[in-house]
Amino acid sequence: MQTAYRAIRVALLGAGSVGSNVARLMIENKQELAQRVGAEFELAGILVNDPTKNRPGIPQSLLTSDAKNLILSADIVIELIGGIQPAKEYVELALNSGADVITANKALIAAHGPELFELAEQLGAQLYFEAAVAGAIPIIRPLRESLAGDKVNRVMGIVNGTTNFILDRMESTGADFNEALAEATALGYAEADPTADIEGYDAASKAAILASLAFHSEVPVEKVYREGITSVTAMQMETARQAGYAVKLLAICERVDDGLVARVHPTLIPLNHPLAAVRGAYNAVFVEAESAGQLMFYGAGAGGPQTASAILGDLVSAAKRHLAGGPGLADSVHANLEALPVQRIQTRYQITLQVSDEPGVLASIASVFAEHGVSVETVSQSAGAGGALLTVMTHRASEQALEQVVSSLRTNNSVQQVSSVIRVEGM
Ligand code: NDP
Ligand code: HSE
Repeated sequence: MQTAYRAIRVALLGAGSVGSNVARLMIENKQELAQRVGAEFELAGILVNDPTKNRPGIPQSLLTSDAKNLILSADIVIELIGGIQPAKEYVELALNSGADVITANKALIAAHGPELFELAEQLGAQLYFEAAVAGAIPIIRPLRESLAGDKVNRVMGIVNGTTNFILDRMESTGADFNEALAEATALGYAEADPTADIEGYDAASKAAILASLAFHSEVPVEKVYREGITSVTAMQMETARQAGYAVKLLAICERVDDGLVARVHPTLIPLNHPLAAVRGAYNAVFVEAESAGQLMFYGAGAGGPQTASAILGDLVSAAKRHLAGGPGLADSVHANLEALPVQRIQTRYQITLQVSDEPGVLASIASVFAEHGVSVETVSQSAGAGGALLTVMTHRASEQALEQVVSSLRTNNSVQQVSSVIRVEGM
């Protein structure tokens, strides 16, 4: 006979794109969720800015602007208001009251994760955040649990749907950056202020979270190297495609010597790499682990119902733990690897140069690469405005050496302009 438990009280903070879908699913699937968990959920209330606003499918009686009373009445608090404050204050209040917390807030977890996890651990509470990286895609639990017995060496992900949509449109239609951004805005992918997406801040928060889980170490978001996509040109995309590559904004987290490097920047990847096939606003995370080998997690990285699915998964886990008791899953940072600067990586590079079309130019440019120990893999030349356009692909080289090459090229008399420098990753 099944034990009868009292209902589990859930406070929902936020009824926007994600919160409204969480509320809807909790109401629509109430019976089935109760059967899966072994106890009913009682939606204790929903925190919003404006409780008088009509919200289809959500009973008006559940809406409140009284955060404190709602949070203190709950066993589980779901934070979906976004931003750092007051979200942090509410999460702390919930943990301090003994509630478990579920959040989709990558900015909060990336900036304050360690102190929030410590607080949760001290209080025997849990902090779940599956939806914070790549929306509906299960990636937090696989890194935290399924791969906890393996050694992850590298995680490479397309973790921002807006920028993937923009780059995809630039590639498939030849649109320039501003045209593709306008289309992303019109379709509702990009926000009114798209800075966090296009400048790579959103992806950097997600990279910090992925790196800390993959390498069991604290990774402050300020240590994540970040470049956005605003300087990617239609010409760069075309040059890449002709050479057999796609341009993607990747979050790359890898072990380097005695530490780790986490970085976000536009990257060339071969067209036959699984990440090159990720189109539109989709996300994917490619994980390389010592025993498991290569794994790819793919799906919707955003969207109300999609992200709500990840929240509901966390809700079922939190409820089961609540019923069973015990300390649950602690976050592990035992490896304590240092987050190192991007200068510590080694990778391949594609450099595009506008040069004068004269005898000896190629030799002079090749000598710059040689001087700094950077080996050239291929060089191709096409006619450029007032000279020639050279595209140089290097073998693996250190970022430090490459920076020296680029700075020498900038002062070389034969070089009119260093048009682009882009890192290249592969399998
Ligand atoms: P929205 O902006 O759509 O919704 C925010 C909700 O929170 C609104 O209902 C708003 O109330 C309420 N709210 C905001 N601030 C306060 C406050 N100070 N006090 C009370 N209520 C407040 O956000 P999303 O649903 O898009 O995102 C929620 C979280 O999920 C964010 O952390 C986001 O990064 C994350 N996320 C979102 C994804 C997505 O696809 N949208 C994907 C993955 C993660 P009101 O309605 O009255 O204004
Ligand atoms: N702005 C984010 C994106 C939403 O475009 O992917 C999901 O975190």
